Amino acid sequence: MPDDSAFKPAVGSVADAALTGLLQERKTLPAKLFYDEAGCRLFGRITELPEYYLTRTERALLAAVAPRVATAVRGPAVLVEYGASDEAKAEVLLGTNIFNAYVPIDVAAPQLEQMRARLRQDRPELLVCLVPADFMDVAALPTEVPQLPRLGFFPGSTIGNLDPPEARRFLQRARQALGRDSWFLVGVDLRKDPAILLPAYHDAQGVTAAFNRNLLVRLNREAAANFDIGAFAHQALWNDTASRIEMHLVSLADQQVRLAGHVIRFSRGETIHTENSYKYDAERFAALAEDAGWHCAELWTDPARLFSLHLLEPRQGP
Ligand code: AVJ
Repeated sequence: MPDDSAFKPAVGSVADAALTGLLQERKTLPAKLFYDEAGCRLFGRITELPEYYLTRTERALLAAVAPRVATAVRGPAVLVEYGASDEAKAEVLLGTNIFNAYVPIDVAAPQLEQMRARLRQDRPELLVCLVPADFMDVAALPTEVPQLPRLGFFPGSTIGNLDPPEARRFLQRARQALGRDSWFLVGVDLRKDPAILLPAYHDAQGVTAAFNRNLLVRLNREAAANFDIGAFAHQALWNDTASRIEMHLVSLADQQVRLAGHVIRFSRGETIHTENSYKYDAERFAALAEDAGWHCAELWTDPARLFSLHLLEPRQGP
């Protein structure tokens, strides 16, 4: 496995990533910039909001279907989690006791080390192989991962952050990394009434607004920027054609902002598009997975059909 330094963002990478988006005609910022320390804390609060049904719905669904996942996968097997910031969700699957090894993949190396320390205590018999990397970039697993059947796990509807072509490429790469003897359990938020979707991304307490604006706080600190945070408003909208929630930061005035030696001009009402959160019909997601070399073996949803867990297996044939 490559050493840590290969995965540390290079100096200036936050500024570079921000500039790339902000110098475009339609300004954007990459959603992965949300997750600095404050951003992770705010996201943790989002998951507990009454309006944000995703996390608690998936948690209940996962607890209900874990035994069925274990029946399908059997074991001994390896659990490979994509974008694992903590082991809370994996714990539900590890509790089925079919896994000999756990391979969490995440950009946050310190969090991975903390997970390993906790798991050493709680599950001393479990082999833990850390992969400190962007889950989008993992084309192969480290060689010390045992040659056992693998269950890939991608919870939280994080796949909704990717546009469909990116999601397809990601699923293809995961298929390659996980190998022929594998399954992939993917949490996918479902298309539903915008009257349910919109409040989940624009809550009454303003936590999501703070999460969105924290991007600018981060750029002020890490990219030598001087955003006037109060001069940008949080916006969430439903784009029905694209089947996605969009988050934006709306400039409340004509203004200019310095960032890493550049001057960026905003007109009043202009937005920075900060996130997409795609919502799928179960059939739509299954078709995307088929395109990427997987077959949907099982589909589970909660009774209100808010959220889905898809158990994929490699597609047979040409
Ligand atoms: C972590 C990407 C699944 O899209 O629902 C929550 C992020 N953004 N509120 C989502 C998020 C605003 C979340 N994901």
